[in-house]
Amino acid sequence: MTEFLAGLKRTNMCGELSQADNGKQVTLMGWIHRRRDLGGLIFAQLRDLSGICQIVFDTDVCDKSLLDKASQLKLEYVVAITGQVRMRTQENINPNMSTGYIEVCAEQLLILSEANTTPFSIGDDSANESLRLTYRYLDLRRSALQNNLLLRSRICHEVRNYLAEQGFCEIETPMMGRSTPEGARDYLVPSRVHTGDYYALPQSPQLYKQLLMIGGMDRYYQIARCFRDEDLRANRQPEFTQIDMEMSFVDKEEEVMGIAEGLVKRLFANILNIQLPDFPRLAYADAMRLYGSDKPDTRYDMQLCNISSVVTDSGCAMFDNCLSAGGKVYAIVLRQNESNLSRKDLDKLVDFVKTYKVKGLAWLGLNQTGLRSSFAKAMREKSLDNLIAHLQLQQGDISFICADNNEETVQIAMGALRCHLADKFNLYDKNDYKGLWVVDFPLLEYSEEEGRYVAKHHPFTSPKEEDLHLLDTNPALVRAKAYDIVINGDEMGGGSMRIYNNDLQRKMFNVLGFDEQAIKDKFGFFVNAFNYGTPPHGGLAFGLDRMTMVMGRVDNIREVIAFPKTQQATCLMSGAPARVEKKQLDELGIRSIDQK
Ligand code: AMO
Repeated sequence: MTEFLAGLKRTNMCGELSQADNGKQVTLMGWIHRRRDLGGLIFAQLRDLSGICQIVFDTDVCDKSLLDKASQLKLEYVVAITGQVRMRTQENINPNMSTGYIEVCAEQLLILSEANTTPFSIGDDSANESLRLTYRYLDLRRSALQNNLLLRSRICHEVRNYLAEQGFCEIETPMMGRSTPEGARDYLVPSRVHTGDYYALPQSPQLYKQLLMIGGMDRYYQIARCFRDEDLRANRQPEFTQIDMEMSFVDKEEEVMGIAEGLVKRLFANILNIQLPDFPRLAYADAMRLYGSDKPDTRYDMQLCNISSVVTDSGCAMFDNCLSAGGKVYAIVLRQNESNLSRKDLDKLVDFVKTYKVKGLAWLGLNQTGLRSSFAKAMREKSLDNLIAHLQLQQGDISFICADNNEETVQIAMGALRCHLADKFNLYDKNDYKGLWVVDFPLLEYSEEEGRYVAKHHPFTSPKEEDLHLLDTNPALVRAKAYDIVINGDEMGGGSMRIYNNDLQRKMFNVLGFDEQAIKDKFGFFVNAFNYGTPPHGGLAFGLDRMTMVMGRVDNIREVIAFPKTQQATCLMSGAPARVEKKQLDELGIRSIDQK
């Protein structure tokens, strides 16, 4: 039989009681976390969001009827308990718990809600993730998950305080908008009133925030939900949240970057008590050259090294053929771990890099018995000596070398190998935070698939003034006024200064292959707005989920979202997405694939 609270008020949270509360009369409310029945004495652990407190039902203090009632308690029952805080006996002290020196000696117990046996034990991190997602409301009782959500909430709170102080105004933008090309695939919402027409859920509030600047709102921000129908990875969700911002009357990247960097420093200082140093700036081309990534993890060194000139005419066909075809050869050196890599390990590394579109991986190591290498025999002695000297190979070091006709391909493969080796050999301190800005991105990239240039960021990103003349002659060389903020090898956010001149915006669309009609059809309302006085503006969006992951040292994005989707974009708890009634589809004028 459950009981009513009948106006009883909670006086304290479970986790906040300490020795200082000794003797105090308290009322606690929460879930039964553990239970131990010793006959005339019952111990229970009561859990709420703040932590756990030991409750004791002791016949020396309480009457028999209370003890009988307590003996009915099962795990996860929701109860209210009134009693007195007392010190635990010496043998019962648990110094590992914040409440480990005290217990509450129960005088009153209300059973507010009973619970069935849960499908997994609460707090069991090892329970199967599908099961935990199906019963997400039970998984949410796990303190690690609760702490992640509390961290997320603190981040939002600090974001709001900071941006308000900087003169930003919080504005909501529509969830139901118009599908615009470029970017990921849209999630579409069919219109009932306009049969055959669709809204699109926003991939980001990009167009709206620029229109807010044209509308004179000066500085905007929003903690905005975004939707992208794309392939999911460990740090991607189909529905995610951005800390989105935009500001007017700025034209230098540094002006937005300064505000954004200030925000990150403030979050780390106020929430984690970590004072981050200034973020270095690294040009995109250098990031690719040194780290093989546009979001380098700079917690460890092991930079890439272009050894094309060192291995020219080496006699080794693998290098010579690649170089004569205009390709490049790159190396990285893993220091003092040569002996930790068996032949089998090396074969696995070769397989690993092949997944990045390169043909193979060569290695050259120095150990006690001399050289160990997959290619040294084929190389002229002089070239080999040069290579060893160039890479400063010492006994115990091993270098990995990769050649490819496409420089970017070899950089990306070696960048991935660099991260892989750093993880495998623990080359960095997991408690460290290293941030940087990647700047000077190319404005465009050529899509072989589409046979045209596509915007690297989005079509509203401004080219650098000094590169404007290249838009007609060599678009691939035009750099953008765009920037990404990276922490520990994760892209935390990205943004750019925007085009605010209609002629330039049209030109950009033209370079992207849109003719006048297409511009009008796809972006007409947006382009038109630029005809009525547009302030220079720029902005940035952080991934709130990713920021929480990094700050909370969490590897899986689902651990920082209350109700996440699986890798297959489903919700195991509610069963979304799901079939709907035929009547609903009829109203929308949609025929389901089930209906022939
Ligand atoms: P962008 O597409 O780079 O920029 O997104 C900004 C940040 O959002 C996060 N993010 C994601 N997080 C989780 N799951 C996803 N599927 C996902 N996709 C992106 C990343 C990323 O850095 N409108 C522009 C911003 C601007 O120019 O102001 C934009 O959306 O952390």
